Amino acid sequence: MGEIVLIRRAELLDRAAALAVVASAFGREDEARLVERMWAAKAIEFEIVAAANEKIVGYCACSAVTIDPPVEFRVLGLAPLAVTPARQKQGVGSALVERMLEDVRRAGAGAVVLLGHPRYYPRFKFVPAATKNVRWDVRDAKEAFQMIEFAAVFDGRPRVVSYHPALGGL
Ligand SMILES: CC(C)(COP(=O)(O)OP(=O)(O)OC[C@H]1O[C@@H](n2cnc3c(N)ncnc32)[C@H](O)[C@@H]1OP(=O)(O)O)[C@@H](O)C(=O)NCCC(=O)NCCS
Repeated sequence: MGEIVLIRRAELLDRAAALAVVASAFGREDEARLVERMWAAKAIEFEIVAAANEKIVGYCACSAVTIDPPVEFRVLGLAPLAVTPARQKQGVGSALVERMLEDVRRAGAGAVVLLGHPRYYPRFKFVPAATKNVRWDVRDAKEAFQMIEFAAVFDGRPRVVSYHPALGGL
């Protein structure tokens, strides 16, 4: 109780623990394998962990996405976000998302997209990407495909977002 959770950049030494957190959060290995593919492809541009007493309890990554037709800004895809089950609903996920948004915005990104629960992400000001005529290339993910803009990136013309090939269909 009252333990301080620190959000910091992920390091190579965090990798095994980060994979364990991702697998435990999702209750399966698929997303951990995804993270390994992202590492192998050097697809990750921003990567942070949440640490409690030096133990990794949360993980979040962002990779570049491509937009067709292109936009003038750098756009990132947030995936995955994971908090170890025993630490969920204590604000760790929110702290990771907020720090990630701050980092990518400061680095000059114009927008972030993600696939996630439509009731979780609006608290960070994500909106359905469809409101700006932006869709995911793999399938119609409806309200789950969300975005946040830090600048006027999307002008309403139809645009299609593709994640890095290492993420495949996620
Ligand atoms: C989603 C996740 C990262 C949230 O992390 P967290 O540390 O529990 O989140 P916070 O404590 O900051 O926020 C908790 C809030 O999120 C809500 N929440 C958590 N998971 C949710 C989900 N799948 N759908 C809707 N709401 C969810 C909780 O109900 C709670 O709501 P409240 O603040 O209104 O009470 C975490 O639950 C997790 O790792 N889940 C499994 C992996 C996963 O689904 N990741 C992808 C998410 S798109």
